[in-house]
Amino acid sequence: MTVSDVRKRYLDFFAKREHVVIPSAPIVPENDPTTLFTSSGMQPLVPYLLGQSHPEGARLADSQMSFRAEDIEEVGDNRHTTFFEMLGNWSLGDYFKQEQLPWFYEFLTNKEEGLGLDANKLYVTTFAGDEESGMPADTEAVEIWKKIGIADDHIFSYGAKKNWWSRAGVPAKMPVGEIGGPDSEVFYDFGLPHDPTFGAECHPNCDCGRFVEIGNSVFMQFIKKEDPSTGSGQAAFKELPKKNVDFGGGLERLVAATQNDSDIFMIDVFDAARTVLESRSGMRYKDVVRHTSDVGRTTSYMRSFRIILDHMRAASFMLASGIRPGNTEQGYVLRRLIRRSLREADKLGIKDAVLAEVAGGFGDAYRDHYAFIYESAEIIKSELEKEEAQFRKTLTHGMHELEKMGNSIDAFTLFTTYGFPVELTEEIAKEKGIALDMTAVQAKMEGHQALSRAGAAQKFAGGLADTAEQTVRYHTAHHLLLKALQLVLGHDVHQRGSNITSERLRIDFSWSAKMTDEQKAAVEKIVNEQIAAGLPVVRTDMNKEEAEKLGAEHEFGATYPDIVSVYSVGPLDNAFSIEFCGGPHVGNTSELGEDGKQFKILKEEASSAGIRRIKAVLE
Ligand code: SER
Repeated sequence: MTVSDVRKRYLDFFAKREHVVIPSAPIVPENDPTTLFTSSGMQPLVPYLLGQSHPEGARLADSQMSFRAEDIEEVGDNRHTTFFEMLGNWSLGDYFKQEQLPWFYEFLTNKEEGLGLDANKLYVTTFAGDEESGMPADTEAVEIWKKIGIADDHIFSYGAKKNWWSRAGVPAKMPVGEIGGPDSEVFYDFGLPHDPTFGAECHPNCDCGRFVEIGNSVFMQFIKKEDPSTGSGQAAFKELPKKNVDFGGGLERLVAATQNDSDIFMIDVFDAARTVLESRSGMRYKDVVRHTSDVGRTTSYMRSFRIILDHMRAASFMLASGIRPGNTEQGYVLRRLIRRSLREADKLGIKDAVLAEVAGGFGDAYRDHYAFIYESAEIIKSELEKEEAQFRKTLTHGMHELEKMGNSIDAFTLFTTYGFPVELTEEIAKEKGIALDMTAVQAKMEGHQALSRAGAAQKFAGGLADTAEQTVRYHTAHHLLLKALQLVLGHDVHQRGSNITSERLRIDFSWSAKMTDEQKAAVEKIVNEQIAAGLPVVRTDMNKEEAEKLGAEHEFGATYPDIVSVYSVGPLDNAFSIEFCGGPHVGNTSELGEDGKQFKILKEEASSAGIRRIKAVLE
């Protein structure tokens, strides 16, 4: 069956059982600043699970676009993706276990109305109870499964880690106000030989790839109480006003089960994109797959195929939903997906632009249910082309510098100065027969990250999350601007926030009055003079006290480690500006003035009480 077939059958099945089919909520949650993405079907329905009445009634079903950034490292095996569709049916205080488990079983096994799966391949799990919270075992679910006809040796019970569901995990981890309950999962046995590296015995929750979870019925009936004195034991929970069912099933995995092929990247929606990758790499995905003894252990080529397929599908949904690559929040996640894909394409030997072409394969695949993907084809294409070109430039530049280094390759400098990924340096070095001391590089990177976190991430509250050439230039321009503001307005000016992208820089600073045109012109003039002067930008690591003595500018309220890195514009003993900062920066201010560019203040406005905000560009 195809993705469309399974989605339709599921929604029809529950519509026939008096469920109202509701549309997917957007992938970026509305009115919920606490989370970047919708990551499960229940998320948009939390208010109703808590007791509010839903306008469509007490029985709902849908297919929800979901994205789990936390699974990004898992992508590469046979069953994990960051983006997926979650089929869901809900009882808001209406039916409960006695209906839910038989219905789902019926959907899985019935040939006419459902998927017609072989019942012998189904395994189920139930909640074994949890000592820490005192929550009892769900023996009722076991009895229901037995009555349905599931054999004893296909029923397994696990503790809270596996068979308790809340967005925060096990009962003890749930914050006050969070809802949760015991759940019962169904697994499909793909019949692959067990891989003992994952444990002596295979069982539904074994990670070897033989069993894949295809649906989870959560009996959402508890809420964590407000009274902190009750701790995390059973007393800390109270029953929700109504007992709910929250069912979630991974659509792609269900499709894979109908094909009896454990590899979810073989389902129809990936066909077109996979074909593009095959023709561009000259490798056949199926051949790559066949060369491994099992799906748990993946070859790097297979991983690369899968990562690109997953990430480009997710990127298409994000771009069509209005997200753009950027340095913060959703935009940063999108940028990460694109850049990771590009590195994987490189591993497949694809050296020219490819991502837009891969993503082009998803428009048609989702046309029937998510027309907006098809309709956004142009945007998806142009944004991917732009981002890919920009990152390729970073890579080319870094590669050039790496060549210049000969046999003494400095992965750390390549990363901090040119944004060149460390893993890539390692691989290239390997090609030259040079084994880099990765432990030492790692240690330096960790130190750098700590410094960046303390110095840059806290300081630049909005984040300087990428190291594209233009972003780095704006970062240096930002240092020049802060100093120029102090020279024009006075030394009470300090930075209070910042956000730097490849399009512009933004600074929030302590100052109460609107700046006059003369003041703005004076600031611009000073910055442009420093650019024209071609001053070196120098990084020095030193004791915190020493940096303070030098008067290095630092962020209000930030705490710094004992050893800090400072960046000076101009030599340290004769600097125009000195700041605590993790970098990266240009090597020389003249780079900001390339092609006759001038620093220009676009906007000066109030940000909050006593804080002004400037947006500026180099153009
Ligand atoms: N909330 C459960 C899950 O996300 C079932 O929908 O797995």
